[in-house]
Amino acid sequence: APVVPPDLTTCAPASVTTPPGVPAAPATTVNCCLLPPTKPIVDYKLPTKPQIHKRRPAHKVDADYIQKYNKAYELMRALPTTDPRSLMRQADIHCAFCNGAYNQLGSTNKLQVHFSWLFLPWHRWYLYFHERILAHLIGDPKFSLVYWNWDNQANVGGNIMPAMFNQQGSALYDAKRNQNHLPPVLNTLALSDLGNTNLTNEQIIQDNLNVMYQSVVTASTPDLFMGKKYSAGDPEPNIGGTLENAPHTAIHAWTGSDKETYLEDMGNFYSAARDPIFYAHHSNVDRLWAVWNTIGGRRRDHTDPDFLNAQFLFYDECGDMVRVRVEDALDNSKLGVSYLKVNGDKLWLNFEP
Ligand code: C2O
Repeated sequence: APVVPPDLTTCAPASVTTPPGVPAAPATTVNCCLLPPTKPIVDYKLPTKPQIHKRRPAHKVDADYIQKYNKAYELMRALPTTDPRSLMRQADIHCAFCNGAYNQLGSTNKLQVHFSWLFLPWHRWYLYFHERILAHLIGDPKFSLVYWNWDNQANVGGNIMPAMFNQQGSALYDAKRNQNHLPPVLNTLALSDLGNTNLTNEQIIQDNLNVMYQSVVTASTPDLFMGKKYSAGDPEPNIGGTLENAPHTAIHAWTGSDKETYLEDMGNFYSAARDPIFYAHHSNVDRLWAVWNTIGGRRRDHTDPDFLNAQFLFYDECGDMVRVRVEDALDNSKLGVSYLKVNGDKLWLNFEP
């Protein structure tokens, strides 16, 4: 049977541990339980005519776009923490389903949305509602997230921390980032390159191209690319897909602050989504899933009913809790989401390892 939403009344403190690559510290706990819904939870119905959200690369947007983006996060940060749409509570959703605040329904095993086939669709839905909330807050239904185009190794590509997130005092800024990784330092997608300061830009780029090729082109099956099966009552999953395990995780670890015990914000699940750059990072993950679907004809997603019928909970733009299904997220065009193309994929699609 598919994974379904947990019993929200049984929330426990989430556990936080040091990620690989930082000095070990004792585990701790944090309370990131979801705010209880104020109305009965309804099944989310996709609009028949979806609002179009065209997501652009963060390194290409203009000053007006950035100003609007900044405004949206300013408003989101200003909401009281009793509002599920506030940035803190948005981040807690990630914490709750990643750091084990809930058990699976009717089971003593933790509910976890990473390291399995749930990773891609859960994060797609998460972005979908996050984007709608931001759009609602600034009263611009067309508002669209940007994507951090870290796979793009072209000259002046997206492979640095996008400038729009680096202005101190802006609502898009987060001080808990690795200060050694500000532009023009290239981001690294290879876990084995993290922390290695002896690499030339040429080497980083070659390694990045190789990681992209291996994780998106070579990984041709849903088990490899999306991650493995995870069903109702299963123990916590541990076989994530290549996109999740390699470039996605590397960007989290690369961005989080090495001065923080648990690599906050981006380097730890419980805190990652407190940083607005998280949503730009995940837009790129989501975009690359859609790119993968098109490689070599059409690469198919999992078709197991336990995948298609898995359900999650989110808050909509009014702050009401809704229930969504994985199957409804498989076609981005039904969600109104598309990604503006830039030339940069070609470099890794055609990479010769
Ligand atoms: Cu839910 Cu990038 O992790």
